[in-house]
Amino acid sequence: MTDRKPPAPNQVTPGATDESPSGMRRGLTSYGDAGFSLFLRKAFIKGAGYTDDALSRPVIGITDTASGYNPCHGNMTQLIEAVQRGILLAGGLPVRFPTISVHESFAFPTSMYLRNLMAIDTEEMIRAQPMDAVVLIGGCDKTVPAQLMGAASADIPAISLVTGSMLTGSHRGQTVGACTDCRRYWARYRAEEIDDQEIAAVNDQLVPSVGTCSVMGTASTMACVVEALGMSVPGAATPPAVTADRMRAAELTGLQAVRLTASRLTPRQILTEDAFHNAFRVLLSIGGSTNGIVHLAALAGRVGFRFDLDALDRMSRDTPVLLDLKPSGEHYMEHFHAAGGMATLLRELRPLLRLNALTVTGRTLGEELDAAAPSFPQQTVRNRDTPIYPEGGIAVLRGNLAPDGAIIKQSAASAALMEHEGRAFVFEDAADLAARVDRDDLDVHPGDVLVLRNIGPKGAPGMPEAGAFPIPRKLLRQGVKDAVRISDGRMSGTAFGTVVLHVTPESAVGGPLSLARTGDRIRLSVAKRSLELLVSAEELAQRAAGRRQTVPTAPRGYRQLFLKTVTQADQGVDFDFLADPQSRGAVPRV
Ligand code: FES
Repeated sequence: MTDRKPPAPNQVTPGATDESPSGMRRGLTSYGDAGFSLFLRKAFIKGAGYTDDALSRPVIGITDTASGYNPCHGNMTQLIEAVQRGILLAGGLPVRFPTISVHESFAFPTSMYLRNLMAIDTEEMIRAQPMDAVVLIGGCDKTVPAQLMGAASADIPAISLVTGSMLTGSHRGQTVGACTDCRRYWARYRAEEIDDQEIAAVNDQLVPSVGTCSVMGTASTMACVVEALGMSVPGAATPPAVTADRMRAAELTGLQAVRLTASRLTPRQILTEDAFHNAFRVLLSIGGSTNGIVHLAALAGRVGFRFDLDALDRMSRDTPVLLDLKPSGEHYMEHFHAAGGMATLLRELRPLLRLNALTVTGRTLGEELDAAAPSFPQQTVRNRDTPIYPEGGIAVLRGNLAPDGAIIKQSAASAALMEHEGRAFVFEDAADLAARVDRDDLDVHPGDVLVLRNIGPKGAPGMPEAGAFPIPRKLLRQGVKDAVRISDGRMSGTAFGTVVLHVTPESAVGGPLSLARTGDRIRLSVAKRSLELLVSAEELAQRAAGRRQTVPTAPRGYRQLFLKTVTQADQGVDFDFLADPQSRGAVPRV
């Protein structure tokens, strides 16, 4: 059944020109005959029951990242339904399409290894299929940055929607949530403070619903960062996954996606220096995940910006941590939402933001903030006079151990270890750590600086979240709760401790971390932003000359591509050929 006489296959859609085809006319399959290509495309899609009226509407693609392996995206069906409702209400045609989905706990060797693959998948599917705008639905840590990176490179109108955080659980009267409490209880279990029965009971409560981790891990960080970048509708960062607010955010996202086809605002127009400035400010003020820095560096590279690690450190010094969320504070994402969400935070940060930054709504961040619901008394977002932490959550370190930089999440570290000198105890790689960390005869002592190398972008590969590696059981039994740990890897945003990460260059490409030996002395000074291996330059040169090291390679496939082209942490661990070669300067600029 048709609703009206079908147009000829090559009839031009109103508002479009041959130079700017829209809707189903975009990106016609190459048969050497454009009219035939459109005729065939429409014939096939009509097989799914579409009318010519429906096919004449603006087409909004929706990424479907549902997967049985990804419970963080377990509300995808409902979200897509709500996005579709918004699109239809605004007169558009929603078309969902699948892409890769990556979950932290179901990705070997590590989800970061697959982020760029997901970004390529997203970019190329956006390019290949006819759509006037795209709704990117992601949530679990790597999915949101992957989608943004892909959409930024494809550069058609795009809007992000996160799946939302999971609810909190309760264990013996205590609120618990993934995954700060996962680590806390597991550390207690390793220290033999709790038994098998209790750890099994906790396991049932840590993830009480679908959705993303309920603390300020990478997923929550990226949700806030996306809103700060202007890439989502206002208020979309914080509603938990299973709430009506989350579904309303989805409907509004669909609506806004159709409007984007009229304004034709693309990610490149939104992802400006000002947008990145706001994103880094927010990341620092929420005690955000260190992974967020890597992802923002990669995203910046996709639109021509070079990431400036030292500028981030300068910005951190005058950006207080205001959000009282684990692991830096006490609360969970549902409490942040109840406190008014991002509007409450952004209002408090207002003097530190670039309010003229454009958002997907076509209005500026300042205009959106003016239009937000009024503030009210709440306990989760502090004001700038009473911060959780006086500086930004992340400090940048340099020194002979990390010539191109390293970072520490100081807001989640032990104050007593921020200025520390100790004997190095070196684990060669993750396998060595696993083999030895719990041995009773390990020659490790309280006060030692624990080093884990070969877990960088190429070393592992994929720079796994092993940076907050376990404290040796021998030390746990002596009551050691934290130790300075140094690696070229990452750590989960939900983790805590005095953990130096992203040491660059990584040891697998010959960085100085590869030269450290058990028994050396290492000095960490967060106040001076320094990380020093207290070994003379001559001795280090001798060690380097005697080193037999080969950069990892692979004989074929994705791993070969990864090892050949992946960049270091300070460049976002993206593939070098995916960055925009046209430079727009550096971010953040302070
Ligand atoms: Fe998916 Fe934490 S595992 S957000």
